[in-house]
Amino acid sequence: MIATDQEIELEADRLLRSLMNVDCDPRGKQWNYEACRDIAPLTLEINRLKREKEAVILAHSYVEPEIIYGVADFRGDSYFLSLKAREARAKIIVFAGVVFMAETAKILSPEATVLVPDRDSGCSLADSLTGDQLRRLKSLYPDATVVCYINSTADVKAESDVCVTSGNVYHIVEHLPAKRILFVPDRLMGDNLRNELKQRGVDKEIITSDGTCMVHDQFSPTDIAAARDRYPGLKVVSHPECTPEVAAVSDFVGSTGAMMKYVKNTGAPYYLMLTECGLVGRLQVEAPEKAFIGGCRLCPYMKLNSLQKILQALRAPEPQQIITLDEDIRRRAARCIERMFELSPTD
Ligand code: 13P
Ligand code: SF4
Repeated sequence: MIATDQEIELEADRLLRSLMNVDCDPRGKQWNYEACRDIAPLTLEINRLKREKEAVILAHSYVEPEIIYGVADFRGDSYFLSLKAREARAKIIVFAGVVFMAETAKILSPEATVLVPDRDSGCSLADSLTGDQLRRLKSLYPDATVVCYINSTADVKAESDVCVTSGNVYHIVEHLPAKRILFVPDRLMGDNLRNELKQRGVDKEIITSDGTCMVHDQFSPTDIAAARDRYPGLKVVSHPECTPEVAAVSDFVGSTGAMMKYVKNTGAPYYLMLTECGLVGRLQVEAPEKAFIGGCRLCPYMKLNSLQKILQALRAPEPQQIITLDEDIRRRAARCIERMFELSPTD
């Protein structure tokens, strides 16, 4: 359907009110009225198709801001979005994020058609461990409780006892009865977990596999020391996928949702966000009075999402954009994720 000039102008105004604050794109994207007017026909058509097809769009905070503020119904971290996927009564869920997130949505909402805008939107963590490799690891530690980070394939979830996210990993593992935990696939989050449990006086053995996040494993304590010298009063905010050396010298470590909450509720002259750059974009929109320093790191997989691909998937998805799962794997993976919901802190 062709939008009128007046509809396009109104939509451009709506987009500009959010996007004008985003200036952290390392590729130099400027969000002015013309840029918003250029994408307005796309966001109008996507939002119209959503109503027509009873679709919802879930967007992780790392995807491009025009998706988050232009067409997403829900935006947030992995935990929040899995809750929204589980509650969704929509016929179609479009997941603007990465494939493991879309798989999680399909596991929790099997009746919905779940679409991923780009099938190549992998994740260095999820891609680091297969179900077969986990089965072999489990045979080496038959007495361990298997805990998988949500950044994992459906196969890996099906082989695990309980799933966790960056927001509940410490709480859930602390309260598991087992002494020996096989934690997959994030080695660095496993190291942070071991340190945190020690600090809490909890005695557990944490065995890890060898995956890392290609974005978060790049940050170093040297960058932090240099930034602190230059910006007195700086708060350093990091994600538990960073190294333990980075976590040790950060002011706050948490999920992307918790990082946002921390910044919104803390008065500091400057913030250094050790995570993917999309989160800084969200904060520039939702906490425009805050000042962020430091460069941007992009997740190449998250950045494969675009308005054009979302529109195409909604109009006529290619077979590879539709998430399908073996029913036995789906059912076992669902048990592992439901266990997470039962064990998560309630706040
Ligand atoms: P969050 O659940 O904290 O958003 O983390 C997801 C992720 O992929 C971080 O790299
Ligand atoms: Fe995976 Fe890292 Fe990208 Fe998150 S930022 S989706 S962990 S590669």
